Amino acid sequence: METVSFTRMDQGTAEEYAFLGGLWDEHHRAHLVDNLFALLRLMQGPTLGYKIDRYRHSLQTATRALRDGADEETVVVALLHDIGDPIAPDNHSEVAAAILRPYVSDDNYWLLKHHGLFQGTYYFDKIGRDRDARERFRDHPCYEKTVRFCERWDQTSFDPDYDTLPLETFEPMVRRIFARTPRGFV
Ligand SMILES: [Fe+2]
Ligand SMILES: [Fe+2]
Repeated sequence: METVSFTRMDQGTAEEYAFLGGLWDEHHRAHLVDNLFALLRLMQGPTLGYKIDRYRHSLQTATRALRDGADEETVVVALLHDIGDPIAPDNHSEVAAAILRPYVSDDNYWLLKHHGLFQGTYYFDKIGRDRDARERFRDHPCYEKTVRFCERWDQTSFDPDYDTLPLETFEPMVRRIFARTPRGFV
């Protein structure tokens, strides 16, 4: 079979959907990490007033996590935590969380989804917002981990003089995490 015979989804057969599923999996397995890296590289360039661009910020966050002894999945989460920025500047945390969700733990999904709000403790008071907004999650099991992520790795990673590791260091880790059998959410 080269292509399916149907032009409407409700006319497809089980055999055709099995054929499509195989091609879909093969295609995404081959390209997903490269596509994520392309998104990361989109953040190279304009620093938007910061001392470093978002690409370097991402590498620096991952470098700090790695040097702090974080497990591999958490290092990858640190590398990709701002991957939503180029395509969803108004809800980047939620988008990064959704992209990584099938491949990471529920805790890391929660961390990714809320990291933007938790970062707020370092500057929300300076832009007229509530820096304690995250306190409504104080009793959540992922609260402490998310606080630590922001405190030690994310909010500190805007430093042009820090010895940041290159993407090549993290590539094998990212490939291992995304080679996992994904949990499906459709
Ligand atoms: Fe962020
Ligand atoms: Fe960040």
